[in-house]
Amino acid sequence: MKFSVGIVSLAQLVLVTQYTSTLAAQYHGYHSPYSFDCNYQHSPQWMTSIPSSTNLTHLSIPGTHDTMTSVVVSHIFQCQNNHLGAQLQAGIRYFDIRARLNNNELLIYHQDSYTQHSYLEVLTTFFNFLDANPGETILMRLKEESTPINSTIDFLTAFNYYRLNDAQTAPGCSKHFWVPPQPGPTSIPTLGDVRNKVLILQNFGSDPAEYGIKWESPLLALEDDYAIPDLYSGLDSKFQAITDSFTAAKAGIESNDGKLYLSHLSASVGVLPIEAAAGTDNGSVVGLNDRTGLWLKGGNGGRTGVVIIDFPGMGLVREVLERNY
Ligand SMILES: *[C@@H]1O[C@H](CO)[C@@H](O)[C@H](O)[C@H]1NC(C)=O
Ligand SMILES: *[C@@H]1O[C@H](CO)[C@@H](O)[C@H](O)[C@H]1NC(C)=O
Ligand SMILES: *[C@@H]1O[C@H](CO)[C@@H](O)[C@H](O)[C@H]1NC(C)=O
Repeated sequence: MKFSVGIVSLAQLVLVTQYTSTLAAQYHGYHSPYSFDCNYQHSPQWMTSIPSSTNLTHLSIPGTHDTMTSVVVSHIFQCQNNHLGAQLQAGIRYFDIRARLNNNELLIYHQDSYTQHSYLEVLTTFFNFLDANPGETILMRLKEESTPINSTIDFLTAFNYYRLNDAQTAPGCSKHFWVPPQPGPTSIPTLGDVRNKVLILQNFGSDPAEYGIKWESPLLALEDDYAIPDLYSGLDSKFQAITDSFTAAKAGIESNDGKLYLSHLSASVGVLPIEAAAGTDNGSVVGLNDRTGLWLKGGNGGRTGVVIIDFPGMGLVREVLERNY
């Protein structure tokens, strides 16, 4: 028994060494120069030097889709391979948090798949990061995922419990949640307005939004074509949707149209998220992360708005961040 445990640990050690040294842009047999290794990017304070008068809409912000799914075992539901803390250190500032009521707690799910993470853990990770890096801003899409399990309260009641009553989260919410000037804010704030704060993109509860900016509000320009007919023909049309969205973002930002542009690189219906991002494991299809990384590296587009990525790599995060300078 003891002997076999030793063998397992050695095998795990060899595996970890491979992933973290020579094969950084490889994961589970998938190879992609613009995927997987965002944990090598160190940009914990990239917003701190940007003037407070800057419109948030003018920033180019790397984000993750289904942020908390780095430990889900099934490829069907896994969209990330780096945990929230590593994403924050890499410079990622938009997070897709999907909480489901389970025994009156908010736990993080991707559809019916439990990610092993809780909303409490998400909030405390955000607040610790903002306390250590007070010049930064976090955008949190908070979505009610699936249907409640064995719960006697509704989503809004649970959200407000963490916000107002839970001793582990209420002080942080009071300090760090951005409060809109009125329900249903009519403009996106400046960077200065939301520095050291969490801006909630409210994908739950009522409209007008009381706790942030409503998801699908006219203030947001959203590209989220996530259903792909199949891996071969589908990625071409999805990539077209991504570059169309970047082109619209550039024009909207240059003309000051006041919208926050959000472009999802991710796709998950008709394809595995990892194959949409990184292509097939035999290299027959090039994934969306590499296509987008090369498009940006080639000098196309301008400011990007929020770029929402599955399995982001260091090179892709860098291409987005560089659009701010
Ligand atoms: C459902 O909730 C009740 C009351 O909180 C609890 O006693 C019970 O163990 C829960 N059942 C399950 C399956 O979690
Ligand atoms: C910020 O956006 C508003 C609304 O679109 C615009 O009127 C203003 O000029 C912008 N500010 C800067 C500094 O670009
Ligand atoms: C490559 O992988 C894809 C997806 O797994 C598969 O459909 C295709 O047949 C493979 N192509 C080759 C040449 O092996």
